[in-house]
Amino acid sequence: MAKLSIIYYSGSGNTEQMADLIGEGAESAGVEVVKSQVEAAEESLAEADFVALGSPSTGSEEVAPEIVEYIERVKDKLVGKKIGVFGSYDWGFGEWINMWIEELKNENIEVVGEGCIVHLTPDDDEKIEKCKNYGIEIVK
Ligand SMILES: Cc1cc2nc3c(=O)[nH]c(=O)nc-3n(C[C@H](O)[C@H](O)[C@H](O)COP(=O)(O)O)c2cc1C
Repeated sequence: MAKLSIIYYSGSGNTEQMADLIGEGAESAGVEVVKSQVEAAEESLAEADFVALGSPSTGSEEVAPEIVEYIERVKDKLVGKKIGVFGSYDWGFGEWINMWIEELKNENIEVVGEGCIVHLTPDDDEKIEKCKNYGIEIVK
């Protein structure tokens, strides 16, 4: 069975809820999902066919430093895999994820679509479907 590894940082739980929904989407497509907070993430991604990385917009339109550091450690293992990126934001327009995708592409890391962003909590049908569909898209 193919495996999706979801690794995320979430300060107040919104990005974590997105991780759950992305995982549900991928599972509905028949893929095994392993979800971990970045602090507990395994260094080896060897067994993952797909990876989803989650970070809220933080600082000033920035990816969480915990995720930046994690990617720095494992980036060689991300090359050649389909990588999804996702996260929650509040007052911005999603600039952080666009810059993040550019940076990953510069490292020859293939990102799925435009990533998946949600304003605050994924708490209505539209946001929930958006996350689940992104999970399906990552593992297609
Ligand atoms: C220190 C800090 C900095 C933030 N900076 C931004 C920002 O630059 N742009 C933005 O849209 N939201 C920003 N936010 C809002 C968070 O992205 C938003 O609350 C998000 O839902 C948090 O997700 P989480 O619950 O997964 O931590 C910031 C929040 C905090 C606490």
